[in-house]
Amino acid sequence: QTRVLTGITTTGTPHLGNYVGAIRPAVEASRRDDVDAFYFMADYHALIKSDDAARIERSRLEIAATWLAAGLDPARVTFYRQSDIPEIPELTWFLTCVASKGMLNRAHAYKAAVDRNLETGEDADAGITAGLYMYPVLMAADILAFDAHKVPVGRDQIQHIEMARDLGQRFNHIHGREFFVLPEALIEEQVATLPGLDGRKMSKSYDNTIPLFEGGKKQLRETILRIVTDSRLPGEAKDPDSSPLFTIFRAFASEIETAAFRQALLDGIAWGEAKQVLYERIESDVAPMRERYEAFMADPAAIEAILRQGARKARAIATPKIAALRDALGLRPAT
Ligand code: TYM
Repeated sequence: QTRVLTGITTTGTPHLGNYVGAIRPAVEASRRDDVDAFYFMADYHALIKSDDAARIERSRLEIAATWLAAGLDPARVTFYRQSDIPEIPELTWFLTCVASKGMLNRAHAYKAAVDRNLETGEDADAGITAGLYMYPVLMAADILAFDAHKVPVGRDQIQHIEMARDLGQRFNHIHGREFFVLPEALIEEQVATLPGLDGRKMSKSYDNTIPLFEGGKKQLRETILRIVTDSRLPGEAKDPDSSPLFTIFRAFASEIETAAFRQALLDGIAWGEAKQVLYERIESDVAPMRERYEAFMADPAAIEAILRQGARKARAIATPKIAALRDALGLRPAT
């Protein structure tokens, strides 16, 4: 069996990028009999970006409800909250002690924060926490604690998966045994990076997201109307390949529908009309999920029970794994 594992940081409401980049492929994978799936809410990662407790709690509920609405079956999938697994921070420390500082210096998120500081004339590390710096090690612990083979993610996470491999390999090498499976990223090429309203990667940090459920279908439609377009008039041919609208459409449509939409753009459909087509395409996927989402949101106790059950299943694997590592590291209590 292939173990497939992925997580989402609990800092905001799920958006179309999370859905097509991670949730949809992960739920599909979990239906296969040869897959053993582990999906979780990365709430320790959320602490790196947010100190707003209410927002983190709300986001956890929304993300959990989204997974369930998207078809995750908690009887098949080990579905849990990162902060319910104390073995993860424990493993984070073991990995920290083999992580090279130079590797962490090269992490994209840290480097971007440094670059922003330098551009504004600040000290390189001004305002950067050690938490942000250690982000990739915590993520490696998420993955290595469960010996995941495949990690379905969007393209923005590839470097983190490579670092998890690197850390696993280093640990195996130093301690002379195959303690960890080395994970691989699983990327859907078509939707590896879903663009947002402004054409850049759809991301909470760019404030350019299209929420999956928040605000209902009215907000979905209004947000889609805000996708940037060029100034070509109705009747003028539009270039599908430079339009975020087309890229988003393609992530939700069959090949035949995509070809028809491409032709409509080339034939000069008005942007307003094209947005309506996009809205209808997305809404027909989202509508049935939204109903289930709302039912789960109305029953947080049910979600809590599912996550607690998931944590038990996850710990049944992580606890002996970490115990073996403790022994190997010389932390065994004297008997
Ligand atoms: P996060 O919460 O930023 O995003 C969750 C998932 O959504 C994908 N994604 C996208 N995919 C395509 N296009 C986009 N515009 C887009 N925006 C987001 C992300 O690639 C990701 O797969 N560090 C991770 C969470 C994490 C994790 C893990 C993931 C913690 N531990 C272990 C996998 C394995 C993160 O912040 O993702």
